[in-house]
Amino acid sequence: MNLFAWVRVVHVVSVILWIGGVSFVTSILLSPATSFESLDQRLKIFALVERRFVRQARLMVLLAGGSGLWMMHILGGWNWLVQPSFWWLHLMLFTWTVFTVFLFVVEPLGHGRMKALVQRDPEVAWRRLRIMHVILWILLLVTVICAVAGSHGAF
Ligand code: HEM
Repeated sequence: MNLFAWVRVVHVVSVILWIGGVSFVTSILLSPATSFESLDQRLKIFALVERRFVRQARLMVLLAGGSGLWMMHILGGWNWLVQPSFWWLHLMLFTWTVFTVFLFVVEPLGHGRMKALVQRDPEVAWRRLRIMHVILWILLLVTVICAVAGSHGAF
């Protein structure tokens, strides 16, 4: 059995589930084109879906990080971390760190403040949530493109 291939499967599947969720939330739930409900109702639906998705995203981030580090161990690639030509690997680590901090620190700590903003000014809350998700979504997409291209010798 090729252990590396299976660890790579875990890595890619966890990234797919994680990025799929972020894509859905950003391009459907938070899209201005999805005007099926009033702003209040949209925020309620968002809160409901996001609460469940955050749990799944946390698990996927842990799996992606764990499998990524395991692959580095199998490949004996720790010295890649100090080689500029492996910038696409640094990008993976950067994106992973951003999401880890966001999901495990910022989200739980800022939850109450966002709830208060939704009550006070739903328009501003909506815009903030949208901008934040679009930025994170773009970061994920760029990371996936560079990771696939980089690990298959494109750079
Ligand atoms: C702790 C964080 C991470 C580590 C240590 C890590 C490590 C790795 C390693 C070692 C590889 C294989 C490279 C090779 O075969 O030469 C890889 C591949 C890959 N990683 Fe990551 N990664 C991490 C996070 C991420 C994140 C956040 C994403 C996406 C957002 C990602 C997406 C990918 C993709 C798409 C591949 C290519 C798979 C393929 O084409 O077969 N990784 N990663």
